[in-house]
Amino acid sequence: MKKIILFADPGIDDSFAIMYALLNPEIDLLAIVSSYGNVTKQQATDNIAYLLELAGRSDIPIIGGANSPLSGEIPTYYPEIHGPEGLGPIKPPEGFSGELTNFSELYNIIKENDDITIVDVGRNTSLANLYLLGENIAEEISAFYIMGGAFLVPGNVTASAEANFYGDPVASNLLVSKLDNLYIVPLNVSNKAIITMEHINTILQMSNNPLINIIDDIMQFYMAAYEKLIPGLNGAPLHDVLTLSLMINPAMGRVVRKDVDVLLTDEGRGTSIADFRERAEPADKNIFIYLTFDYYWFVNDFIRVMSSPLNQ
Ligand code: RIB
Ligand code: CA
Repeated sequence: MKKIILFADPGIDDSFAIMYALLNPEIDLLAIVSSYGNVTKQQATDNIAYLLELAGRSDIPIIGGANSPLSGEIPTYYPEIHGPEGLGPIKPPEGFSGELTNFSELYNIIKENDDITIVDVGRNTSLANLYLLGENIAEEISAFYIMGGAFLVPGNVTASAEANFYGDPVASNLLVSKLDNLYIVPLNVSNKAIITMEHINTILQMSNNPLINIIDDIMQFYMAAYEKLIPGLNGAPLHDVLTLSLMINPAMGRVVRKDVDVLLTDEGRGTSIADFRERAEPADKNIFIYLTFDYYWFVNDFIRVMSSPLNQ
């Protein structure tokens, strides 16, 4: 069983990632860090709390992460992709509000548990703060998985930048400079992690619980948003779920070891760079970039996990 701390900004694919983590018998979800990103931190917190309540797992602490990037800029949110409140057409009940645990509790959780993996599927500000405020934090964590970046392929916010790295490039660049055992899941693979309504219907036929009952409406919204971006896609990519799925099934994908930089300013902002030339110098750091994965393995894993019973 893998002990994980998940950093997220739900957001539709983040919400699927939270459900995947809650339903996967191989994952022990120690805490979720809530931050700005797809929506405000308050909205992300309410959405996390709602999903935890539907799953009967309100015992999992929601840790208060960042409200904005390290630059102090006002964040841009993405209601056109994730819905005005981040769960497509689904809203937590009127008056429902998530309760936050102080960020410092993360250090207690890390001290009390061995062999923790951190998975960050949002803007990287909160994880950068964990590193900056802690002592030897990079050595106390077994591995870091982050969804972000795009290597030699187009970005999804600008021509070359992916949303998580674009949102706080200072934080992302700090992570690629300082963390050890860092696995990056970029758009190269996550854009191909397409889930369709057929997959969702299969899950709904195999399972029936309050958590899973909302996925139909959420996915319809997300697919309609992607249909506008990429007409004819007939599905939508679950970037953040692929990150967790690769963490649990590392052999599902192929990595290359490369040093990475994230550009900070101007037109290059958020662009991830690595040297892919034949004559590139060997990498100094333990950074592993996923460049390919087995799509059918991913889909089977997604359906199997999402149709697992709650509270096992
Ligand atoms: O670029 C994809 C990432 O940006 C995902 O984490 C998604 O949730 C969006 O915020
Ligand atoms: Ca995300």
